[in-house]
Amino acid sequence: MSILTNRPDLTAQIEQIAEAAGYLWQKGWAERNGGNITVNITEYIDDDIRRLPAISAPTAIGATLGNLRGCWFYCKGTQKRMRDLARHPMENGSVIRILDDCAHYEIVADLPVLPTSELPSHLAVHNYLIGKGSDYKASLHTHPIELVAMSHNPEFLRKDVLTRLLWSMIPETKAFAPRGLGMVPYMLPSSNALAEATIRAIADDYDVVMWEKHGVFAVERDIMSAFDQVDVLNKSANIYMCARSMGFIPDGMTDAQMQEISTVFHLPK
Ligand code: 13P
Ligand code: ZN
Repeated sequence: MSILTNRPDLTAQIEQIAEAAGYLWQKGWAERNGGNITVNITEYIDDDIRRLPAISAPTAIGATLGNLRGCWFYCKGTQKRMRDLARHPMENGSVIRILDDCAHYEIVADLPVLPTSELPSHLAVHNYLIGKGSDYKASLHTHPIELVAMSHNPEFLRKDVLTRLLWSMIPETKAFAPRGLGMVPYMLPSSNALAEATIRAIADDYDVVMWEKHGVFAVERDIMSAFDQVDVLNKSANIYMCARSMGFIPDGMTDAQMQEISTVFHLPK
């Protein structure tokens, strides 16, 4: 029996994750096992779930994350495919709980699917978000083609150069990705160094950060909103590249036009 049986609220969350995973595959951002999703589902965990025995040994997170005491997460499984998760979320991901030492987790349901290799970054970010009282529950790592391509140009890695360029391609980008795109220099995937650099970038007031020559990491209230932010930023990257492919450098909206968007939409930047 699945942990989802007779739990419509938790089921709805997992179904939204599966839907987003399907979009990642359709977008071409999720080759093989590329990308990962974690969602803080603590609010949907009832006493019966709390009493369930673990189905794995306690496993070290690699850091002590004091705000995660008592937290529960859905995690994509390492080496699992988004296109499979879209159809079978509880076979390609699992529900974990953080132990009281805040340094280990154990798998509780449905199957002993090992969490994503990027768990250090995901959990460090959730720990940071809880610490600052954020209502963000979802984090998404994916490999969006055009954004990753742009991260191969050193000019675009300077702070907010790409943010301004992407915002200027189409008015909606600034409205719906209002914190822009932070930058994290290339670091080894899955490493604690990458996790720490990701926190620093998100703390610098970004919802989406670029992992140079690898992908993006996004946080939001729910997984669909995280997907949306990456989608609008990548759409702008695509428009830029289409213009360049037609042989010209796009004008972009003017600073005054972008300022007008900020004013009308009451945006933070
Ligand atoms: P996982 O299969 O471990 O989630 O890794 C995918 C990935 O994109 C690593 O950066
Ligand atoms: Zn990756």
